[in-house]
This record gives sequence, structure tokens and C-alpha cells, in this order.
Amino acid sequence: MIKERFDAEVWPEYAPPPKEVIIQKARNVNALATLLSDKIDAEVFDVAPKLGIVAQMAVGFDNIDLKEATKRGIYVTNTPGVLTETTADFAWALLMAVARRVVEADKYVRTGQWKVGWHPSMLSGRDVYGATIGIVGAGRIGSAVAERAKGFNMKILYYDVISRPELEKKLDAKRVDLDTLLRESDFVSVHVPLMKETHHLINEKRLKLMKKTAYLINNSRGPVVDETALYKALKEGLIAGAALDVFEREPTPVDNQILTLDNVLVAPHISSASHETRSKMAEMVAENLVAFFEGKTPPNLVNPEVLKVRPLSKKF
Ligand code: GLV
Repeated sequence: MIKERFDAEVWPEYAPPPKEVIIQKARNVNALATLLSDKIDAEVFDVAPKLGIVAQMAVGFDNIDLKEATKRGIYVTNTPGVLTETTADFAWALLMAVARRVVEADKYVRTGQWKVGWHPSMLSGRDVYGATIGIVGAGRIGSAVAERAKGFNMKILYYDVISRPELEKKLDAKRVDLDTLLRESDFVSVHVPLMKETHHLINEKRLKLMKKTAYLINNSRGPVVDETALYKALKEGLIAGAALDVFEREPTPVDNQILTLDNVLVAPHISSASHETRSKMAEMVAENLVAFFEGKTPPNLVNPEVLKVRPLSKKF
């Protein structure tokens, strides 16, 4: 869709373009199609007078300075919705795997540690069915995780800045404050966007509120959890384990101390990585670009205030 309509250059490498390359390429373009690994900020906007739209292939857009974009009349779009179920599936995979020690079990067999056929305490984990789950951020993805929890007969608590009556009605979910959620949950699953307000939302003090038998699941954004505090909590046995698809720095360095712990399960930010969903995300990027250049409001505009700064025009 993009190549049919526009003169497009595609970054050819697997690794993202360095910032200098983005800055250099941005000078002359009307649009950027970005990934969450591309930092798009004032430094980029300042050299890009012709830039009208940044179309991000992700639901999260914390890598884009929205305020600076809006100020300059630059439209920003994302890809919500299509990845909700896929991302919730992966949160569930992380939760199940960490609770039942699936990755440890796989290693156990492959590395020849399975020397006794069956033992009552071999690799025992924690029950998911009937446990209490605390969902931090009950938006699209958090709600989809809650739906899955219902199938496992779990008690559902959620923390959100707004109340979600539909979740309360349909799933019997209960809105509580964050501290109560942390105190009462067996599984805490984090689904908030990264913003100033959510940076290190799960910090040392809050980890201490969790049950010693509880697990933390994070497939939102790494910096929502203070990783150093999490390491300490896991190491000191303040919580039972964690499953992380996201890190404060990505890729996380192989010498990240958290990787030395057996009660941590990790993945390289792949929660929306299904063939179907990634294709849909890519299509949405194209649809947003096409709409913008046809003078229409892009379907997934995240800074609608921009319409006042730079009205839509077919002659962009
Ligand atoms: C992935 O992390 C996304 O925000 O879509």
C-alpha cells in the first residue's frame, strides 16, 4: 500500500536505524513510519520542516514526543486494537509459564537434571486456577487479560485511573487502589502505558506489599517497573517470581543481574508477535498514512489536538 502510493524508502537492516540516520533521513520526508525502537523527539522534528505524520507500528508510543509533535502540527498515529488479544495471550503465556515453571522444566529435562522419574516436590509451582489476579491498567489489553482470568475461575482485581463498569458487570472484577491490589493478588499483571505518571509505578515500596508467593507479569513497558528493585525483591524472596517481556533497556544486556535468577522468565518484547497481528499492524500504519495524505483524519490519531494546529489538507 505504501509503495503503490508514495515514494518510500525502507530501512533495510534488522537493527533499528541509529539516531543520526533518523535525523538525516527526516530532513526531507513528509512522513515517518516508525517502530518503538526509534526515538522521535524535538531533535528529529527540528530538522524536518516537511514532516506531517509519524505513523508508529505499535500501540505504545512513548518513544515519540507527542507534545513536541503536536506543537509543530505533526500528526502521530498508532496501531491499537489489532494486537489486544495477541498481547493478552502472551501475558497469559508468561503467567502460566512462570507459575508452573515451564521454562525451568524444559531446561531441567534438556540438561540431564531429570534423574528421578517422579517426585512429589519436583518443580512444583503455584496454582493459577482459582487464584487472585490483579490487573494494573484495565484498558484494552488489561481487560482482555481479565477475560482470560475468568476462564480460570480467578478473582479479578483491577487498578485503573478510571472505573471499568463493563468489567465489573461481566467478570465480577473489583476496582481497588494499587496498594490493595498488590497486597491481595497472587498474580500482578501490568498493562499501563509508559508515561511520566507510570514510570517506576512498581517500585521497591510497592513490591514489598506483594505476597511472598505472588508473581509479577509485565508485558507493557519496562520502565513501569523499577528493575533494580525487582531484582532485589526476587533475590530476597519478597515475591515468588516474575515474567518479563519488556525491560528498562532493550535489548537488555546479557549481564543484566535479573537474568541470573531462576525465578524470572524472560522474553525479548514479543507480546504482539504473531504473524496475523504483525501483518495487521503494518496494514494499519499504511492506512493511517494513506488517510492523512488524502486529507482525512487518520483512523488512529493519538494527538487529535493537532487538527487545530495544522488542519487536514489533500495538498500536504
Ligand atoms: C508493543 O510493545 C506495542 O506497543 O505495540
